[in-house]
Amino acid sequence: MSGLKAKYGQTAMIAGASEGLGAAYATALAKQGFDVVLIARRVEPLKALAAQLESDYKVQGTVIACDLADKDATEQIKLALGDKQIDFLVYNACVSYIGPFLETDIETHLRIAEVNMITPMKMLYHFGAEMLKRRRGAIVMMASMAGLQGSGYLSTYGATKAFDRIFTEGLWYEWKNKGVDIIACCAGATATPNYLNTNPKKTSMFEPKAQIPEDVVEECFTKIGQTPSYISGSSNRFASFLMQKLFSRKTAVNMMGDTTTKMYGIKN
Ligand SMILES: NC(=O)c1ccc[n+]([C@@H]2O[C@H](COP(=O)([O-])OP(=O)(O)OC[C@H]3O[C@@H](n4cnc5c(N)ncnc54)[C@H](OP(=O)(O)O)[C@@H]3O)[C@@H](O)[C@H]2O)c1
Repeated sequence: MSGLKAKYGQTAMIAGASEGLGAAYATALAKQGFDVVLIARRVEPLKALAAQLESDYKVQGTVIACDLADKDATEQIKLALGDKQIDFLVYNACVSYIGPFLETDIETHLRIAEVNMITPMKMLYHFGAEMLKRRRGAIVMMASMAGLQGSGYLSTYGATKAFDRIFTEGLWYEWKNKGVDIIACCAGATATPNYLNTNPKKTSMFEPKAQIPEDVVEECFTKIGQTPSYISGSSNRFASFLMQKLFSRKTAVNMMGDTTTKMYGIKN
């Protein structure tokens, strides 16, 4: 979808931009003419992406190295931005894990909560308020189908993604007539380096194929301003229709847990 820059403004900021979906958002937004602010922990891939986007699309690329698990991450970002205004914000970064809840240390679970829930809440409190003052802006929150029901062996991650969706939907209602478009994208499996590194096994011939990041981003741009949240991709929408509307909650939770167990060969 073109015209996002005319609608929302000059500068897009992508939290979690060094690879995969985050890099795809940054590229698509630069292609639309947005200057981009790229955030992640690893500086080298951010610098390489910023240079590429500056050369390909004649936009300005700014790099902010920040660990979004830091309690003062939003303050660090505000300081690095100075008086640069953010018109389009994508919160894409996440921490995940796969396995039994009790076999992952509590620090990791707390880190997941910080990066996936607390930091985005703090960022929206600041950048959302700035957009509201101007009555102009857009926010994309990356959620997940793992947050549509309990997801065994991804329990903490799934719960944070449920938070991301529900939080975003609430803000959509509060901000819908105030010039700020906010949307949660509930993605299914997407072929990012992170996902591919988990080495998932195919569990059935009916399993939806992983989407490519560029397709997720392209669809997101057609949905923003239209709906508070949506499921990415038609096969994922079909799978979620079965899980959420046809099956009982118990069946849906069992199916999700069984699929993860098979995909990753988890011993129960
Ligand atoms: N891939 C999938 O199958 C899938 C499915 C459903 C939903 N999603 C959602 O889509 C989003 C992207 O997920 P992905 O796993 O595919 O990742 P990705 O977009 O390929 O990469 C994750 C990005 O987040 C950054 N990041 C991670 N931890 C960070 C931290 N503590 N501080 C700063 N940056 C951090 C990483 O950079 P650094 O490592 O350099 O910090 C990287 O740039 C997530 O919100 C996820 O929940 C993905």
